[in-house]
Amino acid sequence: MGDKVGRFITLEGGDGSGKSSQAKALGDFLESMGKEVVLTREPGGSPGADEIRKLILTGDPERWDGLEETLLFYTARVNHLRLTVKPALARGAWVISDRFADSTMAYQGYGNQLGVETVRKIHDVAVGTFEPDLTFILDLDVETGLARTEGRGHDEDRFERMKLAFHERMRQGFLEIARQNPDRCQVVDASQSIDDIQMELRSYLKGRFFS
Ligand code: TMP
Repeated sequence: MGDKVGRFITLEGGDGSGKSSQAKALGDFLESMGKEVVLTREPGGSPGADEIRKLILTGDPERWDGLEETLLFYTARVNHLRLTVKPALARGAWVISDRFADSTMAYQGYGNQLGVETVRKIHDVAVGTFEPDLTFILDLDVETGLARTEGRGHDEDRFERMKLAFHERMRQGFLEIARQNPDRCQVVDASQSIDDIQMELRSYLKGRFFS
């Protein structure tokens, strides 16, 4: 898109893979290099999308079926793009989003078995060809990730409570997305320490954008 001046970086991965802390630390790094950074997340990142977040992430796992939640995620996403992400990119900021469209493909398309084609069609209508400049996929054994989320004490755990097989399909979905988009996606071993993961992300970013 012609009016995109900044860079759009997304962090993806299963529950408990440590994306949120990595996103914050990456933001600090970019700010130390003099960049304006907008740290955001999905679902959410704009007032309307934050309201949709509550609807999707709380309550009975059976509350929404795969298609219904995919449409809700995309409503939130279009709102987030229009009100937060695109204006920030247009003024030259670096936007770091904790999750974006790959999450819908992995969780709903693969995990919930809505299917790759259905998610792709919705994506094409809602988002079109706009995509991140770079996506880090934090890959972690499913049981380790879910164990890390226990005791977080929040009520936004609708997906965390889904069955192990769902999470395994979702993990494989992320790896498949990375195989299909090798120029955009970088898989990172999230079983490493927080500091080691951050070093890997920073060194990749330097090589990609600052060398
Ligand atoms: P998080 O803020 O802890 O990452 O929680 C968001 C949850 O929503 C997480 O379990 C993944 C799920 N999710 C989807 O299923 N599809 C999506 O498109 C997005 C953005 C998140």
